[in-house]
Amino acid sequence: SNAVRVGVIGLGTVGQGVVRLLKNNAAEIERRVGRPIVVTHASARDLSRQRDCDLTGITIAADPMTIARDADVDVVVELIGGKDVARELILAAIARGKHVVTANKALIAEQGNEIFAAARAKGVIVAFESAVAGGVPVIKAIREGMAGNRIESLAGIINGTGNYILTQMTEKGESFADALAQAQKLGYAEADPTFDVEGIDAAHKLTILAASAFGTPLSFKSVNTEGITKVTPQDITIAQAMGYRIKHLGIAKRGDNGVEVRVQPTLIPENKLLAKVDGVLNTVLLKGNAVGQVGFYGRGAGGDATASAVVADLVDAARLLAADAKHFVPSLGFQPDAIRELPL
Ligand code: HSE
Repeated sequence: SNAVRVGVIGLGTVGQGVVRLLKNNAAEIERRVGRPIVVTHASARDLSRQRDCDLTGITIAADPMTIARDADVDVVVELIGGKDVARELILAAIARGKHVVTANKALIAEQGNEIFAAARAKGVIVAFESAVAGGVPVIKAIREGMAGNRIESLAGIINGTGNYILTQMTEKGESFADALAQAQKLGYAEADPTFDVEGIDAAHKLTILAASAFGTPLSFKSVNTEGITKVTPQDITIAQAMGYRIKHLGIAKRGDNGVEVRVQPTLIPENKLLAKVDGVLNTVLLKGNAVGQVGFYGRGAGGDATASAVVADLVDAARLLAADAKHFVPSLGFQPDAIRELPL
């Protein structure tokens, strides 16, 4: 068959969503791409676990590296998270000339420069739409829709778990701990939820957003990061009484000496757009010098929403497989020479 053959490494919340989505929307996707996109291989840490997707016809590998190296896999989807093993798998897939799709924001934010360089050398892409704001297609919007602009600044709510906790504390008077437990139960939180509540997850996403928007190298260590663990119920009540909401924001802007990037709890007047973004919803607002302000809004976490972005990247990869590889879109959307112009 002429199907694009996909190997999915990691069958957690997002991986199962990808398997479901490619099956449920198969006809639609095939019409967009001109050929089917099919999961042919998959691997998971615990193969005995019951899964909420149909794995019929999928070859299950015990060792994910066999998928990264398999000549019968066209595109590798990395969804295991973590840095060391994921990095090895991705580099192995690149070395064999495969396009890669990943939701791994920590890896891209901290080691993306190296990974993208390897991908460029091989003429493949490492696509990461799902790494930022879950299902909200903000990376594609920056790279394609805003490609005619010089982007001046961006700000947003980019951690669903943190925003869910703040929302529950504000609207329901729930405790921080109960709200976090609920976010974990809903599948929003990171494996280690301190990444969510200490702002590390948001800092990873902001690193990727800033590099994509400004054409700078990825520089996670430049992000000034403060979490929400010190926000008390009293802070929230006082802010409300004064007509404000407390939101955990990621902000990046061009300054005279480079780009300023920070993650912090912020007071926002209750009539502003960002103050009204509740629960797991994410929002990213950007300012381009031609278009002015634009905004992107939607579900920033959860299996199906994140799978939506993974599958969009698979569609990109499938289109590239049919196109002239010399004209592919570079991973961060800027040619590598230009990326060095503005230090973070
Ligand atoms: N833990 C992340 C969040 C998942 O809550 O936003 C999506 O990246």
